[in-house]
Amino acid sequence: MLSAPLSQAVKYTRNLVTTDNKYWTLLLLCWNTNKESPVHNHPDCECFVRCLSGAVTETLYAWPPADAPPTAPLAEISHTVCGAGGVTFMNDSKGLHKLANNGAETAVTLHLYFPPYQRFKMFLDCTAKASEGSSCFHSKYGALVDNLAGLGLPSSPCAPAAPAVGAPEPASK
Ligand SMILES: [Fe+2]
Repeated sequence: MLSAPLSQAVKYTRNLVTTDNKYWTLLLLCWNTNKESPVHNHPDCECFVRCLSGAVTETLYAWPPADAPPTAPLAEISHTVCGAGGVTFMNDSKGLHKLANNGAETAVTLHLYFPPYQRFKMFLDCTAKASEGSSCFHSKYGALVDNLAGLGLPSSPCAPAAPAVGAPEPASK
């Protein structure tokens, strides 16, 4: 089993395939239709994503200016559909992004992060207001993560953690 069951209760599953816990980590994500990730960054980390089946849409945003008010909408840079066999690349120098499965079928993507990362910024409202998230998984090495098994699966695998300094607590998504 490489993936946790893709229940309709979740947007997508995050499945740890393997990692050396130092230089790289490999994740398999399975996406329900019409679901998307939050807008997020990749702190000190590079990321390749290969679409294995279905299609995902990557929307790229510019970093908000440092003096932007929390309600300022993020500026969209591009919107790209990545079909099966396609590869995208992301790091913080490119800005922020989100991935979405806007297709009619489940999508599966393979993510190579180097080095692995634990914490990142999320922009849940697609505005300059950031909150902090932490990397978490529905399964690891082919085994379900205990506290996510069954009906307790959260709607988002990365629930907001402590809010970023100066930012209000984000609404759950
Ligand atoms: Fe990403």
